Amino acid sequence: MSRRPFVAGNWKMNMLRADAEKLVGELKPLLAGTDSVDVAVCPVYTALAAAAGALAGSKIMLGAQNLHTVESDGAFAQSGAYTGEISAEMLKDACVAWVILGHSERRQYFGETDAGVNAKAKACFAQGLLPIVCVGETLAERDLEQTNAVVEVQTRGCFAGIPAAQAKDCVIAYEPVWAIGTGRTATPQQAQDVHAHIRGVLASIYDEATANAVRIQYGGSMKPGNAAELLAQPDIDGGLIGGAALKAADFAAIVNAAAKR
Ligand code: 13P
Repeated sequence: MSRRPFVAGNWKMNMLRADAEKLVGELKPLLAGTDSVDVAVCPVYTALAAAAGALAGSKIMLGAQNLHTVESDGAFAQSGAYTGEISAEMLKDACVAWVILGHSERRQYFGETDAGVNAKAKACFAQGLLPIVCVGETLAERDLEQTNAVVEVQTRGCFAGIPAAQAKDCVIAYEPVWAIGTGRTATPQQAQDVHAHIRGVLASIYDEATANAVRIQYGGSMKPGNAAELLAQPDIDGGLIGGAALKAADFAAIVNAAAKR
């Protein structure tokens, strides 16, 4: 089964509005010919509007890095007394299509749990947004050979109660925590092994067809120099890019590597 590659830039807590406009302005011509790859940029909330404006007329999609959800009377509240939070409906209103959920930085610094990611994923679907669900092990977990078990628990928790018809449109980002921002990348084989394992977990939750439809991105020090060999792996369907997404030439080089996949 051939899955359409998907490369997303996670800008993390970077970029003022003018920086976002400049980066998008540089990316548009560099990516104009790359029709075979889905591409998204995920700015901070305060730069969403600037990025959305700059993206007009391009196929590059807009993503966010989190959302808030709370169930009230069996529905997801889209507004209310939740100071400092942003709902799925507000993201949709800001032209967002994708939402990164459960990034390891959110798990580590903000106490995000699989159950919370699961609720947020459901809140995405309720508003027609699509989640990019992040999973990945710490270095200590890898050293203890717990990687497969960790990503399995995360995947099962994050997808609990999500029907196959929605799951097939989700994206999973496998991001080994030890590879994020460290310059230390998983080898193509290490990444492929975990991606294949995640796909197997999806097949056991759902079925082969659903598992084969889900795109699994790799994230963790993906750069122009290592993107091609990672993307050549059969179960690596794209990338979730941090540092290299902040430079137009680097991000475009990764997207172009995905186009040649
Ligand atoms: P780096 O590409 O900077 O390692 O970050 C990866 C990441 O966390 C993307 O979400």
